[in-house]
Amino acid sequence: MRGILLAGGTGSRLQRLTRITNKHLLPIYDRSMVEWAVESLVAAGVTELLLVTGGEHIGSFLRVLGDGSSYGLENLSFSVQEQAGGIAEALGLGERFADGQPVVVMLADNIFEQTFKATIDAFRENPVGCRLVLCEMEDPAHLSHLGVAAFDENRSIVSIIEKPSDPPSPYAVTGVYCYSADVFDVVKTLEPSARGELEVTDLNNHYISTGHVAYDVQPGFWGDAGESIDAYQQVGEYVARHGANHPAI
Ligand code: G1P
Repeated sequence: MRGILLAGGTGSRLQRLTRITNKHLLPIYDRSMVEWAVESLVAAGVTELLLVTGGEHIGSFLRVLGDGSSYGLENLSFSVQEQAGGIAEALGLGERFADGQPVVVMLADNIFEQTFKATIDAFRENPVGCRLVLCEMEDPAHLSHLGVAAFDENRSIVSIIEKPSDPPSPYAVTGVYCYSADVFDVVKTLEPSARGELEVTDLNNHYISTGHVAYDVQPGFWGDAGESIDAYQQVGEYVARHGANHPAI
């Protein structure tokens, strides 16, 4: 399965650091944030990757990642998102790259203690609709900054609420999403949200409404290093002590 790694956005929550560079090039312990994401995809068996970012720092991504071979990638392509039009718009830029195949989309500020390979393998087996990776948050303070899943009594997801003031569950939606090949058609039907962006949560709620959603609960630590400056610090400290992208226990 091909991967689309999203590394754009303005990084406004990590100002002033993002005056210097793109958020995903900031260090997490001993390497750039984006490298942890690339390594997580390779560990999950994804070896063909498209990296989408804004034009400004694309040369720095190239300097860090090269042609991707030292990370185990067979193919690394780049695409430019001209403006911050949202996660769903950025993934829409991968249509030609996906070439009619299902894809895994990852937000490059997400860091996982353990591999999410089981999710990728399950979607390869049954590439229908979308498959999400959820994480039960120990600290509920994070939930109001994330997408949060709401369930029915059979533990099926009934909706995802973005940045809820009253979270419907402790299960955050992480930034790893598997989609069937029709995702690019669905993106074209999305309307911009109040902040003028095409939202990944609207995309996922589309698949929920058509009954084509599956999910896994990811064990171990997960962090969105772009959530806030405190989260960035916390993720960095965790990774320095425990590493990331370990085989599943
Ligand atoms: C995005 C998604 C959110 C998800 C999060 C994971 O939020 O909109 O649903 O929980 O990524 O990293 P953002 O980081 O763009 O605010």
